[in-house]
Formats: sequence, C-alpha cells, structure tokens
Amino acid sequence: MFLLILAAVLLAAGQSAPLADCGTLTQQLQIQGRDQFLGRWTYAAESTNIPGSKMLTKMFVENVWGEVSPANESDSISVRQLQKMFGSCYSVTSKMTLANNTLTMAYPLVASEVLLTTSCSDCMVLLSNYTIGESTFSGVQLMTRRPKVLAAEMDEFKRQVDCLNLPPPAILDSEKGFCPDDSKDTETTDLTSMIAHSDSEYMKLFEKLVSSEAGIKTLLGLISHFEPPA
Ligand SMILES: *[C@@H]1O[C@H](CO)[C@@H](O)[C@H](O)[C@H]1NC(C)=O
Ligand SMILES: *[C@@H]1O[C@H](CO)[C@@H](O)[C@H](O)[C@H]1NC(C)=O
Ligand SMILES: *[C@@H]1O[C@H](CO)[C@@H](O)[C@H](O)[C@H]1NC(C)=O
Repeated sequence: MFLLILAAVLLAAGQSAPLADCGTLTQQLQIQGRDQFLGRWTYAAESTNIPGSKMLTKMFVENVWGEVSPANESDSISVRQLQKMFGSCYSVTSKMTLANNTLTMAYPLVASEVLLTTSCSDCMVLLSNYTIGESTFSGVQLMTRRPKVLAAEMDEFKRQVDCLNLPPPAILDSEKGFCPDDSKDTETTDLTSMIAHSDSEYMKLFEKLVSSEAGIKTLLGLISHFEPPA
C-alpha cells in the first residue's frame, strides 16, 4: 500500500514537472539562412496525418539520413535523402528554396516547410505541408546531427506532435543501420524521377489508397509483393 502511495506521489510529481506548454512547443523559429541546414542529418522520427503512415513507416523504413548542400542559387539548398527500405538503399534528391521564413519544394513533390522550436541544440524540427494528388497532408520530422537523439529529446518531440494534433510519430531505430554515404554507390536506386514522373493516374490511386484504412490495407498488400531490384 505504501509503495503504491509513493508511486502515486512520484507520478503526480512527474506530471506537475514543468513541461513546456503547447504554445511554446509549436512556436515557429526564424530561419537564419540556408547555412543552418547544410551538412548531414539523421531522421529520428516523423509523424504525418496520412492514414497508416506510422504503420507503413515502421514496417518498411529502416533508416534515413540526408545530406544538404548549397544549390546554385544563393537562396536554395539541394537535399539528398538516403533511405534504407526492404534492406536496400534508395535516394531522392530535391531542391528547396528559402523565402519568407519557409522552405518550398516544387520537385519531385510540392511541399512547404517551416522550422519549429526545439530544446535539442543539434536537432531540427520541420513542420511540412505536402501535396499528393489533390490532397494536402501535414507532417513533422525530428532530425539530428547525431546518429540518434536522447530519450528526453524524443519525449519533447512526442509532446510537440501531440500539440500539433498529429498522430504519434514513427520512431526510427538507428540500430537498424544506415545506407553508406558513397554517392556513387551503385547499390542505391534513385527514386527522384519515379516520384516526379508518377503520372496523375498513379497519384490519384495513391491518394485514394492513403485516404482510407481499407486503402492502406490494399497498399500493404501491394507492398508485401514488392520485389526490391536485385
Ligand atoms: C549549377 O552550376 C553548374 C556550373 O555553372 C552547372 O554545371 C550545373 O548544371 C548547375 N546545376 C543546376 C542544378 O542548375
Ligand atoms: C513572400 O511574402 C511576400 C509578401 O507577403 C509575397 O509578396 C511573396 O510572394 C512571398 N514569396 C514567396 C516565395 O512566397
Ligand atoms: C500548411 O497549410 C496550412 C493551411 O493552409 C497553413 O496555415 C500553414 O501555414 C501551412 N504550413 C506550412 C509549413 O506551409
């Protein structure tokens, strides 16, 4: 009985610990310039309001890291994302332009992103809108300069996600290993043009699939028959 009371007191104390409120956690940060984005980032967690995205991410995405380099235009960055899925490596290259405190992408997807506050000094929290077919989805990502974040940093991100009314995030596991950083690695399949050139019928199908739980089940069925290129 005493143990239980102690536990209850501890829990109560834990709950009254000064957690940052939603107003603070959803504050947008002023972007200083493109330099703050340059270099290597590990994707630690992501939440989106695409139905089933957490399940799909947990099932198929092993790990993701990205390399950000300056693009030709002084206000633009080039992002090369290396994603380990089904035990193979895939890359996507995109260009983002900085204007009005927002990063925008036109290719291979239409997206816009802003930075949110974080107490983690070498992390970045990106809040995004992206368009798939005629639907717009929102998402938030936690990225870090390190291979992984601390538990307290992940907890703060989970609270941010909750404050944004997004579903609980898919948390990537750095133990699953990353794709190598040799950009000429022939084992890496570039999906950029495949994403950009997905014809509108394909996008409409994807949009239909992700907009319902039944569709997600169909998508899972399709993916489970997917054979990664040899
Ligand atoms: C960037 O500039 C270099 C040198 O002028 C040029 O070769 C390259 O094609 C340009 N890249 C893009 C994406 O425009
Ligand atoms: C930035 O904001 C200004 C003023 O609101 C607007 O005129 C301009 O089109 C915006 N630029 C972009 C790239 O959205
Ligand atoms: C996303 O879209 C909503 C609704 O149009 C808008 O209020 C918000 O500022 C957008 N966020 C980003 C990161 O573009």
